[in-house]
Amino acid sequence: MPKHENEYTDDVVAKLEKLWGEGFLSPGGPEETARILEGTDLTGKDVMDIGCGIGGIDVILVRDYRAATVTGLDIEGPLVLRARERVERAGLADRITIRLVEPGPFPFPDESFDVVLSKDSMVHIPDKQALFAEVLRVLRRGGVFLASDWMQSAAGPDSPEMATFFETSGLTFSMGITDDLPAALEGAGFTDIRVVDRNPWYREEARSELARMRGELREPLLEILGHEKADKWIAMREAMIAALDAGAFRPTHFRAVKPV
Ligand SMILES: C[S@@+](CC[C@H](N)C(=O)[O-])C[C@H]1O[C@@H](n2cnc3c(N)ncnc32)[C@H](O)[C@@H]1O
Repeated sequence: MPKHENEYTDDVVAKLEKLWGEGFLSPGGPEETARILEGTDLTGKDVMDIGCGIGGIDVILVRDYRAATVTGLDIEGPLVLRARERVERAGLADRITIRLVEPGPFPFPDESFDVVLSKDSMVHIPDKQALFAEVLRVLRRGGVFLASDWMQSAAGPDSPEMATFFETSGLTFSMGITDDLPAALEGAGFTDIRVVDRNPWYREEARSELARMRGELREPLLEILGHEKADKWIAMREAMIAALDAGAFRPTHFRAVKPV
């Protein structure tokens, strides 16, 4: 496998935090986190977070949802350092461990966690079948797999809106197909599968993001990115909104359970 080139560089992290709030590299912050967790009690649970980024969600899982421990994994060294600093600042280093990992199998024995969670990170992992098998392996019996992920409809891969969205994003995406998700999770061995389409929410949210990027965030974003990159990011948002409107881009939440 070719060596991973870091994509979440300092300017990317700075622009995403301006848009999505401190500690988050994905939309919706604590409110979306609450929706992902709906119906799941984390109290006293050992949680693994795939693609923890700069760790905002990991602090929330312990501080606000009373997880016993959180183990956050990421493949980008600078993000891991920032996540560890955040955890230290929050005084939670005894309960949150942030690990730099290689893409691929998780470095943990079978049945290590009660909950595996991921917020908008699996979009970067091409082999979903291998990923789901690994999640099932590290979960304890009766454990829960919870995620939000950037996905596409069956029409997505060939649509011009998605092509422009990918071209302008500057990130490497490997989006799964929402409609295939229940069968893929079931095939991996999960039960009690619930899938929630977040396209209607994000259609509205992405419009308000674009308005902020053109308005109150224009100057701060110019300072971080300069004109060319700031305008390219606006073009990316416009393409993303077109892909959302066409129903091709489908941000998705799901919950699945490892049988007892
Ligand atoms: C959109 S960010 C989301 C970060 C965090 N979950 C959040 O919501 O703020 C995606 C993250 O996935 C990480 N990532 C990409 N491929 C990964 C892999 N194979 N294993 C673990 N993390 C990965 C990236 O480095 C990045 O931090």
